[in-house]
Amino acid sequence: MKKLFAALVIAAMPVLAMANTVGYELDKADIDLTDKAALQDGARTFANYCMGCHSAQYQRFERVADDLGIPHDVMLENLVFNGSKIGDHMKIGMRPADAKTWFGAAPPDLTLVARVRGNDWLYTYLRTFYEDPARPLGANNKVFPNVGMPNVLVGLQGRQYIGCKQVQVVEDGKKQFDPLTGAPITHEACDQLTIEPNTGTLNEAEFDEKVKNLVTFLAYSANPVKLQSQRIGTYVLLFLAFFFVFAYLLKREYWKDVH
Ligand code: HEC
Repeated sequence: MKKLFAALVIAAMPVLAMANTVGYELDKADIDLTDKAALQDGARTFANYCMGCHSAQYQRFERVADDLGIPHDVMLENLVFNGSKIGDHMKIGMRPADAKTWFGAAPPDLTLVARVRGNDWLYTYLRTFYEDPARPLGANNKVFPNVGMPNVLVGLQGRQYIGCKQVQVVEDGKKQFDPLTGAPITHEACDQLTIEPNTGTLNEAEFDEKVKNLVTFLAYSANPVKLQSQRIGTYVLLFLAFFFVFAYLLKREYWKDVH
């Protein structure tokens, strides 16, 4: 019994550890890895807004182009800016040592980041940068406090501030209403994000979509064979179902005369 308990605790550890570091409810990314248009848009955003600092060096441009259905010349023209060839790994020119001096931390390679952090974390992280004059680059983040990365998507999202707002009380996942008047019960929370209207080129829904596409691309990049393995898995299950019929008939044949 004790052993079982210990095993359970150990099994739950990664989850507990994650829960601890987050401390802020993550928004659900709800991505669709089969959505080619989303993947292409995400790849474009990644090349334009992230590859100045982050590599995806375990991935080749060619493989991405082929998987996402982007013709090689279009890929080279629109997504490759450092003179790489189509067969090259997605590396960048910035040296980690320089980056560490500039940002206080070197931007990590992002090929596998979706597996390390999870899609929901990425989706929330990329949408919760806010202005913070106390930080060297003027930006802070809700899920990555005191992050070294500047708010690179500010031009799309607009300027986001943190401050106090009345928010509806939620208990056990249910929004609370006053039983007499039916009015929502609110309390003041001082970690609420607000975007200043018309300071970005996208509205809130468009920006969320943009980031979702980017996360879809990062999720694909962390596991490019996932689509393939899902398809193969379906065939394997179909084969097993088909095979079962014959195995059963054979069993009936063998046991026919045994009483
Ligand atoms: C100007 C350089 C720069 C650009 C451009 C940039 N980043 Fe970063 N990024 C950083 C730095 C520096 C860090 C390390 C922050 C730290 O450790 O405090 C970082 C950290 C991250 C992390 C956290 C990694 C981890 O697990 O700790 C993610 C995820 C990330 N960046 C994604 C992106 C995405 C997606 C884009 C494009 C939209 C992007 N970054 C653009 C500099 C940049």
